[in-house]
Amino acid sequence: MIDDVIAARDRALQQIDGAGSLDALVALDTALLGKRGAFADFKSSLASLPTVDEKKAAGQALNEATQVVSAALEARREGLTTAERAVQLERERIDLTEYSGKSRRGHAHLVTQAWERLEDVFIGLGFQIAEGPEVETDFYNFEALNMPRSHPARSGFDTMFTDYSPSCREADGSVLLRTHTSPVQIRVMETIEPPIYMVMPGRVFRRDTPDSSHMPVFHQIEGLVIDRDITMAHLAGTIDAFTKAFFGGAFESRLRPNYFPFTEPSAEFDILRPDGTWIELGGCGMVHPNVLRAGGLDPEEWSGFAFGFGIDRMARERHGIDDIREMFSNDIRFIEQF
Ligand code: PHE
Repeated sequence: MIDDVIAARDRALQQIDGAGSLDALVALDTALLGKRGAFADFKSSLASLPTVDEKKAAGQALNEATQVVSAALEARREGLTTAERAVQLERERIDLTEYSGKSRRGHAHLVTQAWERLEDVFIGLGFQIAEGPEVETDFYNFEALNMPRSHPARSGFDTMFTDYSPSCREADGSVLLRTHTSPVQIRVMETIEPPIYMVMPGRVFRRDTPDSSHMPVFHQIEGLVIDRDITMAHLAGTIDAFTKAFFGGAFESRLRPNYFPFTEPSAEFDILRPDGTWIELGGCGMVHPNVLRAGGLDPEEWSGFAFGFGIDRMARERHGIDDIREMFSNDIRFIEQF
């Protein structure tokens, strides 16, 4: 039996030497020294040896072999641990001398820039800012703006209807993506006592196929003034003051007669560039008495004007961009130019 023990010990030492990982070593430990391991078998066969001397000699050999194997396992474990640590450290090494270059400073989106400048200009003129929901009800987007169901002007707003929105639970009719910022006029009149001097920027939606000057999602800024004895002259003056503040003193503005159901009289307003060409900017007019009533105001007591125009167009004009789609492509080669 002693020979068997020695042979088993030598085999074990070889296996331990060959263990390539800590996991393999743990498995080997169990297989050799575990309760059902190779050396446990020897222990149980000691009892069947015929003489006390033989038992003693074999027991001693077994003890020695077990100690040698156990020490070898421990030594191998240490060796493997050190090796694995070294590999891990090398993998996680950070080169502190590496130079990654200066991080470059980004900038706000062109539309955001125009939006913020517009707000600044209007705050400078004494206006306050308000915002309203992008998902609206038929009431705010049309009905309250003097466009009852079946009003032909509705077809001019290529509307995207939606099924349900938690923010529009009060909806008694259709729910839609607002086609302009004008519904915020009504929301402002409902919540704020006149005098009102407010601008309301926001995102609006129309069922348009994108082309160089149209996007199905775009941005408008609405203006609303409600006070006593407000006239069309105040409207024209405000638009001119805003034009000069935004574009500079060399620009002029003009109003052209137009029609909107929610203003009467209504006008389109244009801006004259220093080179003599005109840009069409937006719509405006005196708030229609029906709209004042829908907003809970008495048209005998209050009057006002409103205007609305595209923010994207302002950004486009300011930076001389030919194709409005470029502004929303997020192509870094385009964005980086500004
Ligand atoms: N809401 C109109 C549009 O989107 C613009 C407008 C606003 C006209 C306010 C008059 C008064 O076309």
